[in-house]
Amino acid sequence: MSAIVFFETANLALIREFYQNKLALDVFKDQGRCLIFELGNMKLGFCSADAAETQGTITFVYASREKVDEAYFRHLDIATTKPEQSDFFKIYHFWARDPEGRNLEFQCFLKAEELEEKQKAIRILNPDPDKPKLLLTRMIPDNAVQKLKRVFEVHANIFDRNLSAAEIKAEIGGKDALLCLLGDSIDKDLLVAADKLQVISNYAVGYNNIDIDYAQSKGIAVCNTPGVLTETTADLAWALIMAAARKVTEAERLVREGRFLGWEPLMLLGQDVHHRTLGILGMGRIGQAVARRALGFGMNVIYHNRKELELDFPAEAVDFETLLRESDFLSLHIPLTSDTRHMIGKEELGMMKDTAILINTARGPIVDETALIDALSRDRLFAAGFDVYEHEPDIPRELLALDNVVLLPHLGSASLATRAAMGELAAANAIAIVTGEEAPARIV
Ligand code: GLV
Ligand code: GLV
Repeated sequence: MSAIVFFETANLALIREFYQNKLALDVFKDQGRCLIFELGNMKLGFCSADAAETQGTITFVYASREKVDEAYFRHLDIATTKPEQSDFFKIYHFWARDPEGRNLEFQCFLKAEELEEKQKAIRILNPDPDKPKLLLTRMIPDNAVQKLKRVFEVHANIFDRNLSAAEIKAEIGGKDALLCLLGDSIDKDLLVAADKLQVISNYAVGYNNIDIDYAQSKGIAVCNTPGVLTETTADLAWALIMAAARKVTEAERLVREGRFLGWEPLMLLGQDVHHRTLGILGMGRIGQAVARRALGFGMNVIYHNRKELELDFPAEAVDFETLLRESDFLSLHIPLTSDTRHMIGKEELGMMKDTAILINTARGPIVDETALIDALSRDRLFAAGFDVYEHEPDIPRELLALDNVVLLPHLGSASLATRAAMGELAAANAIAIVTGEEAPARIV
C-alpha cells in the first residue's frame, strides 16, 4: 500500500484548483477538510489548518453539530461509528477509517448548555420539496435508504437510538409514508396526527406494534417484510435450541472467567438434541423452516397449528396439550394477538416435561415471563432460549440471574443479507403504495 504524504494548508480550494484543474490529477478521496490526490504510486494529502494529525489519527474540527452530521453523510462509506455525544470530552463526534487504515475523527466542541439541550434526531437526508415525504424512524441498511431517496424526501432519525412515541408523533404530520420498526408503537394516538399518511411500511414481519384496524379505517396501507427473513430466523431458533440444550453460553462464561480447570466427567451436562422430539407451535413459514432443519438431527417433529396443513416433510399434527406434554423442545412461531398473549403460562409450563426446553423467537408476551422464571428457577423446565421479551427491551432481573436460560437481544433476522433484503422489501412496499402500484407485501 502506498503511503500518503500529508501537507497542512489553509486553503483547500486553491490546492484543488491547482492539482485538479491545472495538473488534472484525480482526487483519490475528498474527506471534507482533507483532500487526497493520486500521483502515480504516491498519494498527496492536504488537510486544512484546523485538521490535525496525532498518532495516526486525523481530527477534523467543525463549528457545529450540523457540520459533523454533514461530514457523516459524506463519509458514510468509510464511517466506523455513527455521530454521538461524548459528555466526558464535551465533544460531538464520529470515527471513520481512510483507505490507508488511518483513523479519522470528525468532531465539534459542545458548550455546556448544548450538552443539556435535547438533540433533534430527525434530519432531511435529501431535501427535495417535489418528492413525497417519508419518515424513517431509524437508519436501516444503506441499499434501502438509497432506494427510498430516489422516490422520497427522506426525513430520517440519524441517531443510534429509537425515537419516542412523542418524537414520531411530532414528525408524522405532512408525511406521505412511514417506515418504522417493530419497537415503534403505531397506535391510534399517533395516527390521529398522520394527516397525509398513505402507507406504514413495517421493517419486520410481525406487525403487533401497529393498530391495523384503525390504520385501515383511515385508508392507510400497512405492509411488512415476510418471506425474506424466514430462513435466517429459523437459523437463530436453532442457535437457541443448541445453546440452551448444551449450556453453550453458560459454558462460555465459565471459560472466560478462568474456571475451566480441565475435562470433568460431570461438568455442564446438557440435553441431547438429536433423535428427540421437537414441538412447533405455529407451523407458518418460520415454524416450517425450523422443523425442516430438525430432520437432519433425526428428530421427531410434532406441531400444533390453527389451520390444517399439507406439509412436504414428516411432521405430526397434535392438539395443544399433546404438544406441551410430548415436546422435548418447544419452539414458538405464532404471531402476537389478543388470543396468543400469555398462551404459555403457569398451567401450560406445568404440563411440559421437566427435561424440556422452551424456545421463543416470536414475540415476548406470548409467554408469561413470571411463570417462566418460576418454572426455570424450580427446575420445572430444563432450560429456555429467548430472543424476545414480554416488556422488551426490559428483562426481569430474576431472568438475567438464571443460568439455565440463553438470552439474546431480538436477533432473529439479524444477518447482513437478510436485513438488506428486508430493507429492499420495506422500501419497495412504501414506494409501491405512493406510486399507486401493488405493494409486494401488503397486510391491509
Ligand atoms: C422480527 O421480530 C420481525 O417481526 O421481523
Ligand atoms: C471428549 O472430548 C472426550 O474425549 O470424551
